[in-house]
Amino acid sequence: MARRSFKAGTLLAPLPAVMVTVGDMENSNIITIGWTGILSSDPPRTYISVRPTRHSHKLLSERGEFVINLTSERLAYETDYSGIYTGAKVDKFEKLGLRKIPSEKVAPPTIDGAPIALECRVFEVLHYGTHDVFLADIVNVSCDESILSGDKICFDKAGLMAYAHGEYFALGKKIGRFGFSASKEGKKKRRSSARASEMKSTPKKPRTTPRKNQSGGRK
Ligand SMILES: Cc1cc2nc3c(=O)[nH]c(=O)nc-3n(C[C@H](O)[C@H](O)[C@H](O)COP(=O)(O)O)c2cc1C
Repeated sequence: MARRSFKAGTLLAPLPAVMVTVGDMENSNIITIGWTGILSSDPPRTYISVRPTRHSHKLLSERGEFVINLTSERLAYETDYSGIYTGAKVDKFEKLGLRKIPSEKVAPPTIDGAPIALECRVFEVLHYGTHDVFLADIVNVSCDESILSGDKICFDKAGLMAYAHGEYFALGKKIGRFGFSASKEGKKKRRSSARASEMKSTPKKPRTTPRKNQSGGRK
């Protein structure tokens, strides 16, 4: 298939748009962050990239702790709102009617209703380009009990949403699990998706409808 190139840009997608809480139980703020990811499994480490102009940057630098609250379709409005209004002018918790829950190991609160929350402690700050990168240890993880089945966190119950270059998407159905390509079902799935794309690329025969003669009727 033909491809086109565009000017270099930050087109990695999908990304999670997360609601990051900073500060403490009394003086806290929420900032929406798209530039985030995992650095290491063991120890579990993450990062967030924050512009120095953000109100949250100051609170983050002072305390060195933050909570990554994963967002869901139900929190889509709150996520967007927290990404366009500044905590320097508005109390986002109050305005959005969000309840603060004390986090287990860090001072910034966890947002009630966030399916999963990662409590983080900063160990280094890197200054790259437009954003400062806060590298952090994940020191505790909590989840809303509504997405548990026994002790298992069920991501398909979380209603997670994704962010892709300015647009939010609801995550659709689960289509596989880690390692499925090595299983029998995975191989079957591959064969059936190959068949489906073959059918798509085979041009359809043009429909042949008998043409009526000029006088309109049959002779
Ligand atoms: C979907 C989305 C993703 C965003 N990602 C980032 C980001 O990764 N880093 C950043 O500094 N700002 C990001 N922003 C912008 C901030 O969230 C926004 O400027 C916010 O109002 C800052 O809040 P504060 O001034 O209260 O800290 C994002 C906004 C949206 C809507």
